[in-house]
Amino acid sequence: MSGIPQPAFYIFKCQQSAPPGMPKPSCVSQSNPESQEIFQHLGQTLMRKGIIATAIPIQTGCLSRCQQGPVMLIEPGHTMYVNLTKEKIDRIVDEHIIGGKVVQEYVIADEFWGEPIEPSSIA
Ligand code: FES
Repeated sequence: MSGIPQPAFYIFKCQQSAPPGMPKPSCVSQSNPESQEIFQHLGQTLMRKGIIATAIPIQTGCLSRCQQGPVMLIEPGHTMYVNLTKEKIDRIVDEHIIGGKVVQEYVIADEFWGEPIEPSSIA
């Protein structure tokens, strides 16, 4: 007997919002009104396509790539998407989540996304 199926994807969307006047940029900001709608758009898109049970959107705090915001991380795959818009979300859902192919042009540049640091190497 098999158990309840696992989700295929967890989509971590940074929802950090810095107060006005804060020098550091944040993924949700008043100066970028669209940034305030991206998470809701993501959830609605997954729902509309009927896949929200297997591609779960999760709101997170800062993912440490604030200069490239709005950002979201897709697991599995450790794929960091940057400078998001609603239009980019649509393509990512269609091509990556449904189609299984990473949208390379929206992925963070290598210079900002090196290899992971293994905790065992610094503990
Ligand atoms: S505020 Fe989103 S990555 Fe830091």
